[in-house]
Amino acid sequence: MKILITGGCGFVGSNIAIYLQKNLKKVQVYSLDNLSRNGSSLNKKRLDKINIKNFNINIENFKKIKFLPKFDLIIDCCAEPAIEASKYDADRVFNTNLLGTFNILKKCLEDKANIIFLSSSRVYAIQKLRDLVKKTNIIKPLKIKYKINENFTTSSASSLYGFTKLASEKLIKEMFYKTNLKFIINRFGVIAGPWQFGKQDQGFVPLWVARHLFKKKLSYIGFGGKGHQVRDVLHIRDACEIILIQIKKINKINNETFNIGGEINNSISLNDLTIKCEKLTKHKIKFKSVSKTSIFDIPYYVSDNNKLKKFYKWKPSRNIDKILKDIYNWLSKNNTIRNYFL
Ligand SMILES: NC(=O)c1ccc[n+]([C@@H]2O[C@H](COP(=O)([O-])OP(=O)(O)OC[C@H]3O[C@@H](n4cnc5c(N)ncnc54)[C@H](O)[C@@H]3O)[C@@H](O)[C@H]2O)c1
Repeated sequence: MKILITGGCGFVGSNIAIYLQKNLKKVQVYSLDNLSRNGSSLNKKRLDKINIKNFNINIENFKKIKFLPKFDLIIDCCAEPAIEASKYDADRVFNTNLLGTFNILKKCLEDKANIIFLSSSRVYAIQKLRDLVKKTNIIKPLKIKYKINENFTTSSASSLYGFTKLASEKLIKEMFYKTNLKFIINRFGVIAGPWQFGKQDQGFVPLWVARHLFKKKLSYIGFGGKGHQVRDVLHIRDACEIILIQIKKINKINNETFNIGGEINNSISLNDLTIKCEKLTKHKIKFKSVSKTSIFDIPYYVSDNNKLKKFYKWKPSRNIDKILKDIYNWLSKNNTIRNYFL
């Protein structure tokens, strides 16, 4: 089987590529990545070591994609994943995330390849997610125990990033309609782990560990600047495991959309993340407080994995402490990586 992973040198793509190459029999994994993300060239070296070839192509360029080898499955992990880029780099968000999916789907149709699409929890309506916290009348969203399932509303604004993900989902259904091709759409919450070159607006978990480890400042931004925002976090290894299961079962379970995340047990506020990072690194750092909230930020998101559990009889097994420890070990062992987090 030939598998193409778009965004294969990114955090999620590179980890999935290596995991599948090692854990699937009779497979050759390939990557498509233009190395535009800071850190992706380091991930490419990891792929080189196990002979996973990267095609250095812009996903917007169908002329080049068309002439790639024939694939049986494409896992679409290519995106501008920072939600704030919806403001400062709208063209890139639109073209990479939506035109990119369109090009990959054209390739799927030509090759008769199935697709696993990495969508996002950010397809859900921002205002409705904010209302969840308002309704509870609790200032600290951590006290909420609400899980968001696949039926939560997507009908109002969710940022340009969220729009491109939702539109890509719809495009998959459109273009695969009346074909025998199979798709799976995974709406992931926050994923974290080693080889994630996190920034303040995307990949905050490794950023938190790194800034503590290297004794640099951080900021609490939005919702009063107190660090009360809550997210559930999924270990990258759990994400790899479920993708492998989905590939093995794709003939039986397909054309479905799943929410996937760390759920309640793996949800954490920024404040609590700070406490854990202080214990782990034995360093206390300075925090700036920025009270102004981005129009795209949400105070709370926790995934409901129930549909996923029902279909695959699977649930994530790595807790938040394991996630932080694995990131800490990765950062401690790789001194050159330090500069990516400063
Ligand atoms: N990391 C998370 O927490 C998370 C959560 C939900 C969904 N997702 C989705 O998972 C996917 C992977 O996310 P990630 O965290 O690995 O992001 P990432 O930025 O680490 O990886 C994306 C990769 O795509 C490449 N890329 C970007 N634009 C390109 C272009 N025009 N042509 C070719 N390559 C290009 C980048 O160089 C990068 O290596 C994305 O679709 C993202 O939206 C991620």
